[in-house]
Amino acid sequence: MPKAVVPGSFDPVTRGHADVISRAAAIFDDVVVAVLVNEAKATLFGPEERLDMLRQSLGPASNVTVTSFSGLLVDFCRAEAATVIVKGVRSPADLDAELQMAQLNRHLSAVETVLLPASPELSYISSSRIKEIARLDGDVSDQVSPYVWRRLQEKLAGVD
Ligand code: PNS
Repeated sequence: MPKAVVPGSFDPVTRGHADVISRAAAIFDDVVVAVLVNEAKATLFGPEERLDMLRQSLGPASNVTVTSFSGLLVDFCRAEAATVIVKGVRSPADLDAELQMAQLNRHLSAVETVLLPASPELSYISSSRIKEIARLDGDVSDQVSPYVWRRLQEKLAGVD
């Protein structure tokens, strides 16, 4: 089985992301979770915090590694000798966006994209909505790991 990359902003990692990553790890021998570091894009959590939350939230899987990247995803895939990108799809809007990215990435290089349909019970989960709800004092503890929930509360309280 080829090596696969699961890329994303992971700001922060959600239960939906963790589900896609563990399903990718069941299909591919080697999975690299790649956190995009993009100085131009404002994120709530810095790169090291996002990596830490991923490492704390993913179960122990010997074939999953977590790292960061900047620049083009296809260049990262080439450097990692990964030939497949795995993305989760929650909705027709996601599919629209992912289809275009998959086609662009394949145009830029030979990398193929495998789209995994989100598990229905997790398909409403989104990092952006989680941050919005948490900022408004809502409870999103069932949408992230206990560790991420704590880091989210600390961050929004200004502790971190
Ligand atoms: O979690 P996100 O924000 O939906 O992830 C988007 C991501 C990181 C997969 C995408 O923005 C990306 O691949 N960025 C790297 C730059 C790049 O390669 N752009 C061209 C994509 S067609």
